[in-house]
Amino acid sequence: MLSRPFQFKSIYFFVPAINLNSQDTYFKYFQFFDFNIFWGMGQIPVKSYFITGTGTDVGKTIATAGIAGLFISLGRKVSIMKPCQTGIQYSEPDIAMAHSLFPGIFELPAGTACPYAFPYPASPALAASHQKKTIDMRKIIKAYEAAISTEGLELLLVEGAGGLMVPITENHMMIDIPKLFDIPAILVADAGLGTVNHTLLSIEAMKKRKIKIAGVILNRMPSPAGALEKDNIRTIEKYSGVPVLASISRISPELNLSKPANFADCLLARMRKQKKLLKLM
Ligand SMILES: Nc1ncnc2c1ncn2[C@@H]1O[C@H](COP(=O)(O)OP(=O)(O)OP(=O)(O)O)[C@@H](O)[C@H]1O
Ligand SMILES: [Mg+2]
Repeated sequence: MLSRPFQFKSIYFFVPAINLNSQDTYFKYFQFFDFNIFWGMGQIPVKSYFITGTGTDVGKTIATAGIAGLFISLGRKVSIMKPCQTGIQYSEPDIAMAHSLFPGIFELPAGTACPYAFPYPASPALAASHQKKTIDMRKIIKAYEAAISTEGLELLLVEGAGGLMVPITENHMMIDIPKLFDIPAILVADAGLGTVNHTLLSIEAMKKRKIKIAGVILNRMPSPAGALEKDNIRTIEKYSGVPVLASISRISPELNLSKPANFADCLLARMRKQKKLLKLM
């Protein structure tokens, strides 16, 4: 079974329980202690979230870029990662789209930001097999470890591909990534009809696997929100106990196509109004 490498920060909590009677243990105690002081002073722990969605095209990249843009505007060092990107034959990779909206997103080396990219627009497992390749989850974990080791990085957003039950290998699906990385998820869903069903099913699947869920983001919210959209928020929160952190309005596509900076301004203005998002850091 795959697991992440052991992290020294967890030792910190066990240190006071070590018996200091013998000289030998005393020496070990200080070795651990010194290391943790060094770790605590030299490196800020990175907050990390898995941005998933109720399906493809729901707005994971827009939400990822919006969260990144919000925290960058607050002076934080933020980066993004997309472990598997498919369909690059037809559309711009998500990392590139987010960077074009918010150039302040810290750029990771290409192999770290996106260890696997395939031309065919399908699940990563199928897109890889089209190229007669397979995906190695260890490479994805290594890329994540490299990303969170970036000096001074404070927030890392990891965007999934499609929804949660999307095959990556014969044995792994997208939903396994937040478990393997041991990070909470943020679920992006469309604000309109059908959302309650898709959202609650996705939340149930994550809860079953003991994945922490930081919240839901509803995208393409009409302005002003109608009775349906308001009821969606209330129903999702009531039945799942998971907060709706933010809603993103539908931004004019003309702004998107011709002027990414204007689109980004609209998105950032919207994200700034969503006070619950500030709890993410
Ligand atoms: N709030 C919005 N206003 C205007 N356009 C939007 C909005 N949200 C998404 N879009 C557009 O819809 C398309 C799909 O959005 P996005 O790429 O964020 O979806 P996704 O869930 O990341 O898809 P994928 O599964 O391919 O990663 C993009 O062209 C994006 O610009
Ligand atoms: Mg995307």
